[in-house]
Amino acid sequence: MIILAIETSCDDTCVSILNIKKQKIEILSNIVSSQAEIHKKYGGVYPTMAKREHQKNLLPVLKKAFKKAGIKNFIKPKIDFIAVTIGPGLEPCLWTGVNFAKALAHLWNIKIIPVNHIEAHILANFVGETRNNAKHYTKPREKLFPAVCLVVSGGHTQLILMRDFGKYKILGETRDDAAGECFDKTARILGLGYPGGPAIAAEAAKINPVKSFASSKRKSEILFNRVKLPRPMIYSKDYDFSFSGLKTAVLYNFKKQNSKVKKSKIYIQAMCREIQQSVIDVLIKKTIKSAKDYKVKTIILGGGVTANQELRKQFEEKIKKELSNIQYLKPNIQFCTDNAAMIAITAYFHKKEAKDWKNIKVNANLRTN
Ligand code: KG4
Ligand code: ZN
Repeated sequence: MIILAIETSCDDTCVSILNIKKQKIEILSNIVSSQAEIHKKYGGVYPTMAKREHQKNLLPVLKKAFKKAGIKNFIKPKIDFIAVTIGPGLEPCLWTGVNFAKALAHLWNIKIIPVNHIEAHILANFVGETRNNAKHYTKPREKLFPAVCLVVSGGHTQLILMRDFGKYKILGETRDDAAGECFDKTARILGLGYPGGPAIAAEAAKINPVKSFASSKRKSEILFNRVKLPRPMIYSKDYDFSFSGLKTAVLYNFKKQNSKVKKSKIYIQAMCREIQQSVIDVLIKKTIKSAKDYKVKTIILGGGVTANQELRKQFEEKIKKELSNIQYLKPNIQFCTDNAAMIAITAYFHKKEAKDWKNIKVNANLRTN
């Protein structure tokens, strides 16, 4: 089954073509056109600007995807379904992708499978060229489920109980900012680039307290010790999160420093390390708690923040230590942030829901249950 997928829910214009067989997924093309450079100036995504960029980019990205997949016939290509993200996301952006999908579906006389972006971040674990991902894809369901999924992106932070493909229950979510949003906003405070997650991770990786203290001793130690941030809601009994307090704590800490400290490399690096660790501590604590409470067989990560190497590593160590009999799934790095391959694989699991283009509409606040 060949699926062409379109994703425009935020600031990446993505088109992917997958050939999905029973035992194997072949990625014919997976094109992502990032708008990060455009939004960098503002430290966040401007929906109307993102929409305009999607409008400009969709056709060139589609053409690239066709070329990469070796498809030459634009009029009647060998494609069985179109998959498109219908929500959640930025409404003007979603409509751009959905209208594009409708036009193609009408032209090619094929059906559209509507896709939930959050579910796609979870199912991104089942697409990939590594043997490991292929193994999960063909695994019997009773060996995988129930699973607990942590979806952490720029727009969402949710803990979801997954009983099967398509069967979800939200256990908890953020009450304010998403974890990725917290990275983006605190990176802005510290004068780092957008997206903030990779920028903070890169700064955090530069500092090694032991080495720093050994070399420049007192001064760097003092700078480093200026940075202590809260772990919001880490001991709350529910599965909810809150990251806006962390952002405020970063702002106050930064504001009270003198201009020399604000510009010092070691202060910025220490701050980034602490922001990252605070987010990691809370995410791991709540996920492990839910995995134990629901006696799950698998922990599944998904979303842009799960590209964070420290998060991936610390999760692995914690699971090995506390839940050694549990499977741990994380997407290949390229499928953590937004892409359309994850939309195609999700559509495959929902192929029975294929609809005529006239019946497809956006739902910007779509939920997973
Ligand atoms: O899933 P995604 O591409 O888009 C949404 O659905 O929102 O996630 C984007 C988010 C951004 O907030 C970005 O800062 C964060 O993922 N991110 C990271 C890393 N790479 C991207 N956060 C932490 N560490 C990273 N390496
Ligand atoms: Zn996303």
